[in-house]
Amino acid sequence: MMVTRMTTTKKCLNIGMIGAGSSATNIATTIATIPDLKLAAICDVNKDAAQKIADANKVQFVTTDYKELCKQEVDFVVISLPHGLHKEVAVYCLEQEKHVLVEKPIATTVEDAQAMISLAHKKKLKLGVHFQNRFIDAVIEAKKLIDSGKLGRILQASVSVMWFRDTDYYKKSSWRGTWKMEGGGSLINQAIHPVDQMVYLVGNVRCLFGAWGHLVHPIEVDDNTCAAFVFESGAFGTIQTSTATKAAFPAKLTIFGSEGGIEIDGNVLTIFKADGTKDRIDFAAKEGGQVASATDPKKFSVIAHARLMNDFASAIRENREPLVSGEEGLRSIKVVRAIYESNGEKIINIK
Ligand SMILES: NC(=O)c1ccc[n+]([C@@H]2O[C@H](COP(=O)([O-])OP(=O)(O)OC[C@H]3O[C@@H](n4cnc5c(N)ncnc54)[C@H](O)[C@@H]3O)[C@@H](O)[C@H]2O)c1
Repeated sequence: MMVTRMTTTKKCLNIGMIGAGSSATNIATTIATIPDLKLAAICDVNKDAAQKIADANKVQFVTTDYKELCKQEVDFVVISLPHGLHKEVAVYCLEQEKHVLVEKPIATTVEDAQAMISLAHKKKLKLGVHFQNRFIDAVIEAKKLIDSGKLGRILQASVSVMWFRDTDYYKKSSWRGTWKMEGGGSLINQAIHPVDQMVYLVGNVRCLFGAWGHLVHPIEVDDNTCAAFVFESGAFGTIQTSTATKAAFPAKLTIFGSEGGIEIDGNVLTIFKADGTKDRIDFAAKEGGQVASATDPKKFSVIAHARLMNDFASAIRENREPLVSGEEGLRSIKVVRAIYESNGEKIINIK
């Protein structure tokens, strides 16, 4: 009898990275841990930055022009650029038949995000957004708890990211603190992960009233925001963000249900039970389970990044949507833009 051996080896996918800054360095470190992914090309207008990542990861092709990178044999590109460039570069890469994994936020406006999503569908290519914090254990566990109904009806949710960035943070980097290139400040940049986790766990926001201001830093965009809103489910929510409070509070997403609640602080999950007791599960203590915090923005979870990268690669191999697709990335940007547009003056209905 003939026995056919099944091979389980996955096709190795070549990646081109556009942008070689701090986030790209973390992603390159992650790619090096995944056997069937290879960083094959890297681009940055700052050649030294690109070369540094190339040397550390044995990357063959280095360029300062992302259009040149697109001529290479890469299966997908990772875009890790200032927010204001996400749309332009993603559209170009999609036009060149490349799948695109773009860093958070998907884009600076709802319209730009929608244009990227439509083009990816038209070209039958994958578009993913790098919200790796959906893949941390605290969020995976929280999702199971909510979907199983153990928290009862979700009544309210709140996001609090009251962090600090010093003046140098804005001075040293010309794109930060500007509407054109950062597209906002504390809300679109620092708080976007918990806002994404909130819409993922609780649902879309229907309408909101928000306010923003630059109360301390000499920047165009927000160093403080707040908002109150109603979810499509009828639950209520609040958001408060800052890059101007030196006290370095933890970043928290709290979800209150009729039968209990949860709090996610980095990769630590606290479960508040109906009997008044609570369980605290510290996933951050595990190797690779750390995430950025007020005091250490450079910390990152290799595990969460790798889960996201593996899912995106599988989506290409299996011709399915990635778990964090363009549409998923759009959900948080709708909330962010509505807060900026509300501007302490009007209630915004989110479509
Ligand atoms: N997922 C996360 O947890 C996480 C963490 C940090 C940053 N980010 C995101 O990553 C992206 C980049 O942020 P960063 O902190 O790495 O910024 P950064 O300033 O450290 O890096 C950006 C890089 O882009 C390069 N660049 C600018 N214009 C370019 C162009 N036209 N072509 C090629 N290169 C160009 C710059 O030279 C710079 O090296 C942003 O979207 C940011 O929000 C995500």
